[in-house]
Amino acid sequence: MAKGKTKTSRKAETAKEQKTTGQTKEPVQERQAGSAAADQPAEENRRADDEQTKIFEERLHRHHDELRWLYMELYENDSMFAELCDQMYQFYLERNDELKKLDTNREKDKDWYKQNDMLGMMFYIDNFAGNMKGVQSKLDYIEQCNVNYIHLMPFLETPEGRSDGGYAVSDFRKVQEKLGSMEDLEKLTAACHKKGINVCMDFVMNHTSEDHVWAKKARQGDGEYMSRYFFYDNEDIPAQYERTVPQVFPTTAPGNFTWLEEIGHYVMTTFYPYQWDLNYRNPRVFNDMMYNFLYLANRGIDIIRIDAVPYIWKELNTPCRNLQQVHTIVRMMRMICEIICPSVLLLGEVVMEPEKVVPYFGTVEKPECHMLYNVTTMATTWHTVATRNVRLLKRQLDIVNGLPKEYVFLNYLRCHDDIGWGLDYATLQTEGMGERSHKQYLNDYFQGYAGDSTSRGELYNADPVTGDARFCGTTASMCGIEKAGFEQDDAAMETAVRKDLMLHAYMFMQSGIPVLYSGDEIGQVNDYTYKEDPNKAADSRYIHRGPMNWELAKNRTEPGRMEGKMFQGLAKLEQIRKTEKVFVTQADTWTIETWDDSILCIGRYFEGEKVIGLFNFSGDDRTAWIKEADGDYRDLISGNKMQPVDVQVPGYGFFYMKKMS
Ligand code: GLC
Repeated sequence: MAKGKTKTSRKAETAKEQKTTGQTKEPVQERQAGSAAADQPAEENRRADDEQTKIFEERLHRHHDELRWLYMELYENDSMFAELCDQMYQFYLERNDELKKLDTNREKDKDWYKQNDMLGMMFYIDNFAGNMKGVQSKLDYIEQCNVNYIHLMPFLETPEGRSDGGYAVSDFRKVQEKLGSMEDLEKLTAACHKKGINVCMDFVMNHTSEDHVWAKKARQGDGEYMSRYFFYDNEDIPAQYERTVPQVFPTTAPGNFTWLEEIGHYVMTTFYPYQWDLNYRNPRVFNDMMYNFLYLANRGIDIIRIDAVPYIWKELNTPCRNLQQVHTIVRMMRMICEIICPSVLLLGEVVMEPEKVVPYFGTVEKPECHMLYNVTTMATTWHTVATRNVRLLKRQLDIVNGLPKEYVFLNYLRCHDDIGWGLDYATLQTEGMGERSHKQYLNDYFQGYAGDSTSRGELYNADPVTGDARFCGTTASMCGIEKAGFEQDDAAMETAVRKDLMLHAYMFMQSGIPVLYSGDEIGQVNDYTYKEDPNKAADSRYIHRGPMNWELAKNRTEPGRMEGKMFQGLAKLEQIRKTEKVFVTQADTWTIETWDDSILCIGRYFEGEKVIGLFNFSGDDRTAWIKEADGDYRDLISGNKMQPVDVQVPGYGFFYMKKMS
């Protein structure tokens, strides 16, 4: 920490002056000196620079007091705060004009990301297209998928074999060589922006790889770097932590500490032993990680997914999740974004129960994340698939729909991680479903063991102590596409595709922004080849992270093929979503009682337009006993006229009924 202070010097003084006077003279003067000749262009440049500085100052001014207050609350360190301000200005200067234009536009149109055309897709760059350049060459395909936001899964430098899917970063400013370079990234983001596609990346801030330069120096016993992590020379404190901190990977990486023989110390490793938790009590860690953040934002990133954010602050005798200081840090990040790169959105990865998730939005006056994952709804969706009973899902949607409209959720059927069974067990208990036995049922069901299940997939981190386990599989495999394909059963395939499309149709109807996992648009099934790779074999999440099958993707235009049915079926939904205003995030969204436990009904209303969605989660034809007797409706899928009164919904079928004016 002490060393951090010495680094500030002259720059910090400038920033201090900035802070007290609200002026940022020095860097501007430096730049003027560089363009000495008093000719016309120099004069114009100077004016442009002044204009830029003014924008920065205004933004800083807006947030300065709160930012400083929060920073002091955590760190009580004036010079480090001054350094932060100075560096923020430098990153602002470094930001290119195109991005600055985007910043100004989005500042004026704060709801830009809440529009009904927002559709995301996530993928690993190598799996999708080999490398960054490959992704750039596939932008037409992305457009065909109606996707305007791509999440590039972790692509920064990470040690082969100790990468946790890229979530163990050894250099925050270097792209993995096999994927390209920072320059390729900048070209890719610029090419995406030309097509109106937003780019999302992960900011893995809770930990670094053990190969990160800080970790290497810490391992050599350098105290300055050891203080950036959690080091203990005996087991007393680690043992105290273990008493209250749950385990993330109980089977693949048990415990929260790793013993380092060579220096005779324990280091905190909440995730894998090669992912060392950063110590955010050290302002040097916060500052330097913010500089990495801004560096990445300046490469043209639109959405930054803050990975594992609930874990970033540790405190003895607590679960080390969601502590108040985490919110202080996220709030500071939001302000830093709004000062330097206001076009950038923060997406929080908070895989927790609903009451823990929502606080990450902050308040209307003091917002934190722009977007959060709708994780409980995702898990409850699969519970509904397995039980064919929509009651819990309806209840869950009612909770989400009751939240302020400023809160934007990302909806998804699955992501690169496992599905954890974080359900509302208190409610299930009232229906006679115990937590342990129900999880067991769900895991059996999705492995294809229970009843008439057609699902395929594998358990994840089955904990022999608690009996707990999570689940991995692609959407298509969980819907029966893999089984039907293997058995060459056309009728079963038909049903599986219907189920898969119905789930997507329902997901598109939820309040928020839908995100597809690449490959789901062509019904891609589980990939078992990970078992042959010793670096992956122990981690069943790789079952649903297989490479995109471009051969099969060619069938997407063939209406008789499974890929064609999936792709065209989704395309129809995507088109509807982006043409109908009622799908904007700010629309009213609510559920309607159908008096049939297998049929979910969702209503949406926006500026005089109304759509009702009906979704049958069972394989049988059922009737939705609804009585929305307010006029004629038309099904947006078939174009048929309908009355939303006692509607017959075929097995795994759905309707998008729009009220005719
Ligand atoms: C997040 C990622 C997950 C990773 C973990 C540790 O939860 O989604 O894949 O293992 O963070 O970084």
